[in-house]
Amino acid sequence: MEPTTFILFGATGDLAKRKIYPALYNLFIDGKLPQAFSLVGLGRREWTDETFQANVEHSLHQFSRRNAKDAGLVNRFLSAFRYSVLDIGHKDDYRKLSELIKQREDELQMPPNRLYYLSVGPEYFETIAANIQDSELGSANGSKRLVIEKPFGYDLQSARNLNEKLSKAFAEDEIYRIDHYLGKPIVQKLESLQQANPVIQAIWTNKYIANVQITANESVGVEERAGYYDHVGALRDMFQNHMLQLLMMTAIHVPHGSTSEQVRFKKKKVMEAVELLQREDVSAHIIRGQYKEGSIQGKPVIGYTSEPGISPTSMNDTFIAAKLMIDNSYWRGVPFYIRTGKRMKQKSTRIVVEFREPLEQNLSTNGERIEPNLLVIEISPNESMTLQLNTKNPGHNVAFKPIHLDLHSKQENSPEAYENLIHDALQGDGTFFAHWDEVELSWQWVQPILDAFAENSVPLHPYAAGTYGPAASDELLAKDGYHWWFDEQPTQNNEIKEGVQYAYSTNN
Ligand code: BG6
Repeated sequence: MEPTTFILFGATGDLAKRKIYPALYNLFIDGKLPQAFSLVGLGRREWTDETFQANVEHSLHQFSRRNAKDAGLVNRFLSAFRYSVLDIGHKDDYRKLSELIKQREDELQMPPNRLYYLSVGPEYFETIAANIQDSELGSANGSKRLVIEKPFGYDLQSARNLNEKLSKAFAEDEIYRIDHYLGKPIVQKLESLQQANPVIQAIWTNKYIANVQITANESVGVEERAGYYDHVGALRDMFQNHMLQLLMMTAIHVPHGSTSEQVRFKKKKVMEAVELLQREDVSAHIIRGQYKEGSIQGKPVIGYTSEPGISPTSMNDTFIAAKLMIDNSYWRGVPFYIRTGKRMKQKSTRIVVEFREPLEQNLSTNGERIEPNLLVIEISPNESMTLQLNTKNPGHNVAFKPIHLDLHSKQENSPEAYENLIHDALQGDGTFFAHWDEVELSWQWVQPILDAFAENSVPLHPYAAGTYGPAASDELLAKDGYHWWFDEQPTQNNEIKEGVQYAYSTNN
């Protein structure tokens, strides 16, 4: 790994504290940071290097998956950290920053390889990129990388505008767009599941697969993010990025040894093949919902519009379920059902691949139903891959029973998403970052839905907190003869029929 200076914008912020410092510390313990490594934290607060280091240390005690009790180790880690005050709009501050970075590079005899990590609101991305470009920072004679967090744009047009601005300062292969779902250990194993198993590879097509279900349910509500969330909703917050990335990762076919470019090319091809919805078809394929009061794990919780900071008349979506079709030779005819929601019964992110019924019959000879074969990939909070097959029950001549083959189980203390991603960015490996093509195609797919929501032509289904979302989400699958796997009980009664009614208007 090349010696690198890590320049962190937003060094006093929450993400840095919760994710970035703990990730760097764990990489350091695992010997996965460059031999020569320097970090410059930037923020508006007037901190000294010592205050900065003390804050970083505190965050390790709070959030690192490994304890930070070895003072010698922690001090060695912190010795790489410096702090500089920076006002994002002040050109002069970039000159000062450039001097500090050079001084550190001289001290440590490092080449000017620099990674700029923007852990700040997206409204600052353009200004920072332009100021890096215009200052001496932009012309250093080493590698230059830009790591940015979501959201990348607010809709298709704003994403395009942002990309155009960023690309004046950084080439596409220098930009690392974080989608932390791509850093989750089991998501990173999806490709190799096929590559290492010809059996799985052979059946990864519409000939054998009936449908694919991708779920990211959360039990938390809007938390303290009302100002942000009420403007974006589940569609922008989770669906456009994380959920569509999971779809691409599930649907690609990549031969063993594929390069980062090849993987991204295949993902782009998948996204290009996802059939676009016309605005008038949106309500047939998309279910939008909003949580009302209910209870989660026995505790009462308030409804979305009663949450602090949320308008009582908000029509924002806290739940989305969708049916997508991929028009290519592998997936033609196989529905991909995707759902994500807040205040659901429990936290669970999983992919279920349901295989077609064997032969003609789906009943065994004694009239008993045979379960379909399933591949179940639990992403979080559990981490596992299980193949459900059927076997004959010994002693009963005719009955079948499902058996489960474990293909992967969670390793103790496995690395967190941010460790994987920061490590890859330091190495210059873009495989698990969102390429602009993927981002643009995702926004293209989502845009007609945003438009339909804006003109209020899609019903907003209320659902009780602590359930699996509105009954309409079950009906979306039931129309095709399927159901969501592993919901503990059917959600027919979830729809709230009394109390606050939503007077959604339809333009049709
Ligand atoms: C973030 C969203 O990107 O992902 C949050 O902004 C959401 O609203 C979070 O809670 C979920 O991530 P995870 O890793 O907990 O599934």
